This record gives sequence, structure tokens and C-alpha cells, in this order.
Amino acid sequence: MSDTIPDLTEKRISYTRGELRRSDLHADPLAQFQQWFAGALEGQMIEPYALSLATANAAGRPSVRTVLLRGVDERGLSFYSNYDSHKGRDLAANPQAELLFFWPDIERQVRVYGSVARLSDEESTAYFHVRPRESQLAAHASDPQSAPIEGRAALEAKFAALEARFPEGSSIPKPGFWGGYRLAPQEWEFWQGRPNRMHDRFVYRRGGEHWTTTRLMP
Ligand SMILES: Cc1cc2nc3c(=O)[nH]c(=O)nc-3n(C[C@H](O)[C@H](O)[C@H](O)COP(=O)(O)O)c2cc1C
Repeated sequence: MSDTIPDLTEKRISYTRGELRRSDLHADPLAQFQQWFAGALEGQMIEPYALSLATANAAGRPSVRTVLLRGVDERGLSFYSNYDSHKGRDLAANPQAELLFFWPDIERQVRVYGSVARLSDEESTAYFHVRPRESQLAAHASDPQSAPIEGRAALEAKFAALEARFPEGSSIPKPGFWGGYRLAPQEWEFWQGRPNRMHDRFVYRRGGEHWTTTRLMP
């Protein structure tokens, strides 16, 4: 394997796998998302439920990372993290965020903008206990998430100490600093790649109880 990066200016593919017409759109963007998400889950993609979460702090400095979608319904889209992490601090200062799914196999992208609120402690606790035991211990070990740690050994020592504190069979309590968030969508965009960069894009914007749909320039 070579470390040399090839000339990227010649690297591109043409998107040919679908199209999105206004007449295809569900009136409700959640139904549209569910249809596309079901299509993504049927394919060979490794984690189509992984998404980019963009936040910004009070000064407007942006920050982005991947998280896993853990639920979607009429209330919004939920994911879990550490409340004291970089993203947790951003969301405490500025609860607006944007989520982005890119599903290369089906040449689709979905963007969702909205406001984010913490899930109830009950909901977070219920999910925490569904996670594998090692993930529960890792949530305790990785705190404060995003803070510097002197080395891998220190992290592993923390994990080992937690394994000793919570032996197999004992219940591991959900840490107070760990839990879920839900983004309540105010805007959804559905993007279908088309040949010659003439992509199809529709944005849904909420107006009271209803959604308006607008085709956007690609
Ligand atoms: C595929 C994938 C899934 C991830 N899922 C999560 C997740 O669900 N929750 C989470 O807190 N971090 C998750 N991470 C790690 C985050 O991307 C990030 O490194 C971490 O949350 C710290 O982000 P922050 O410093 O911006 O707060 C995931 C990373 C990848 C690559």
C-alpha cells in the first residue's frame, strides 16, 4: 500500500442509481426518511445508522463527529453520548444541531436540522442497560469524554478498575454524565445523486403543523 495520495482531480463517479421527483415525496418527512432509511438498512453498508452530528458553541465555532442513531419517531431522532463531552458542552450552550446521513451505496444524503434536548433519565437508563456490559463500563471509563488522557495504559487501568468494581452479574448504574439526546426536526433535506451533478434535492420546512417542500438547485 502506498502512502502517496493520487491526483484527486480525476476521481469522481457518476450517480445513476435513482431519482427523486416531487410526486415521489411523502407529505410527512418522517415517512420519507423511514422509506429511505429502510432502503439503506437493506443494503450492504456497514453502519447506515451512523450519522455526522454538527454542533456549534456559543461563539459559533463548529464541530462535527459521528454518532449512532438509536431511535427515530414523530418526536425526532435520538443518539447517546457523554453530556460533558465537547458535543455535550456545545449542545448545552447552543441546542441547535444538524445531522447528516450519507449512504453511498444508494447515492443518497439526508440532512436534518433542529433543536436538541436531553432524553429523560428513565429513557437513557433503559437504553444504557440494553448495551453490552463492556460498553457500559467504557461509558464510565471515558469520562470526561474529549478530555486529554496521558496514555492508553491509563485508560485501560480505568477500565480494569471498573471491571473489578462491578463484577460479572452485578448491575452497572448509568453514570449521571451519560445519556441521550433527541433532535426535533425543523428542516429535512433529501438528496438523490443524479448523473452530471444534476442531483435531485428537496427540502421540507415546518410551517406550524404542516411541512412545505421545495426543490433546491443541486
Ligand atoms: C461509527 C462511529 C460511531 C460512533 N458512535 C458514537 C456514539 O453513538 N456516541 C458517541 O458519543 N460517540 C460516538 N462515536 C465517537 C464520536 O465520533 C466522537 O469521537 C466522540 O463522541 C467524541 O466527540 P466530541 O469530542 O466531539 O464530543 C462514534 C464514532 C464512530 C466513527
